[in-house]
Amino acid sequence: MKLSAFGEKFAGNSGIVELMDDLGSALRDNPDMIFMGGGNPGRLPVVEAVFRQRLEAILADPAQRHSLFGVYQSPQGDRDFRNQLAGFLNRQFGWGLGAENIAVSNGSQSAFFILYNMFAGLMPDEEPRTIHLPLAPEYIGYGDIGLSADFFTATRPSIELLGDHLFKYHVDFSHLADAKNIGALCVSRPTNPTGNVLTDEEMSHLDAIARARHIPLIVDGAYGLPFPNIVFTEATPHWNDNTILTLSLSKLGLPGARTGIVVAREDIIRAFTNANTIVNLACGNMGPALARALFDSGEILSLGRDHIEPWYRERSQLAVRWFREQLGDLPYHIHRPEGAIFLWLWFEGMPITSQELYQRLKQRGVLVVPGHNFFVGLNEEWPHRNECIRVSYASDADAVKRGVAIIAEEVAKAYAAL
Ligand SMILES: Cc1ncc(COP(=O)(O)O)c(C=O)c1O
Repeated sequence: MKLSAFGEKFAGNSGIVELMDDLGSALRDNPDMIFMGGGNPGRLPVVEAVFRQRLEAILADPAQRHSLFGVYQSPQGDRDFRNQLAGFLNRQFGWGLGAENIAVSNGSQSAFFILYNMFAGLMPDEEPRTIHLPLAPEYIGYGDIGLSADFFTATRPSIELLGDHLFKYHVDFSHLADAKNIGALCVSRPTNPTGNVLTDEEMSHLDAIARARHIPLIVDGAYGLPFPNIVFTEATPHWNDNTILTLSLSKLGLPGARTGIVVAREDIIRAFTNANTIVNLACGNMGPALARALFDSGEILSLGRDHIEPWYRERSQLAVRWFREQLGDLPYHIHRPEGAIFLWLWFEGMPITSQELYQRLKQRGVLVVPGHNFFVGLNEEWPHRNECIRVSYASDADAVKRGVAIIAEEVAKAYAAL
């Protein structure tokens, strides 16, 4: 089979494909594996009940059932849904949006494919531009999305040690200034994999840099603001006409509905929609049909505030407590959990790499994600990148507790070899 350059890049072996294959085959070989590796949201009965009732109501009504299954949605997404969402965001934050500022996508991942390649890669004057990630480590799913090579650049963060085995990454603005030929800045907030939530000050600073460079600031709100609100710190949702905010229904509990949302200036939405028409023709109807009433009534906020955020906050605190109990005096650090569904652990000076630790844990029936995969766009040597793992705490609490004990045993063994 002779593949094009695109075929070679996308159909061949990429980091994310290899990792996903490995995680998938590990689960097939051992169905009892403790799965702390994926991005699946937790199961919250209250939230599941809301979507189940909504689905039952749709299925019981022939007209709604037909519009769910029997019609193509417009490539920008159902107008009523976009109006409802714009109305909700305006009422809450005064962003002055209309339906023309919103596009729906088949999952936010597919929106990133289009947006990133719209702003970076080879420009019409042949100048290459990158998507710059101001705070590495960042979401693994960006890693292979570029149509051209060397698509990402990133700034290494500064590290603040907070005591009690906690630490926090900050954007190192002094080095961010060095980044050249950038097409857009992008941050996930809360950040996958670390659970970091960029402060309001960091966001305004990034906004000012993006404006000064005449490039957009892309904010990936898959876990955050304003929904599903898996945020444990004080943080204000950020949007203005130089920001592209991507949202998703996945972490609300609907990853199977594949619904992403892009909020941006009208000309950006028009460009995005044109590209989305070529790639996807239309968006799925399921997510908007299930969620629209939540935006209209504002219930989306109370679901996040009263159910989703407290559930993940409690889980994160439990997971930190279990790690503290199990890791004892080992030289470990945990990124302060400020949001999202993961803990990010840093084993300073560990004599084995995080990849080796991942392999050993897999043998022991625990799946995590080795941290080096998340340093997308950061090319400099830095031992830290091989000293971290990402652990999800969203699955069954007993399984997470057993997983934590096994991780601690393997880490202790690794340090014992020193
Ligand atoms: C930070 C972040 N952004 C985007 C996505 C993509 O989500 P989806 O395509 O399900 O909307 C994920 C999925 O885990 C994520 O963690």
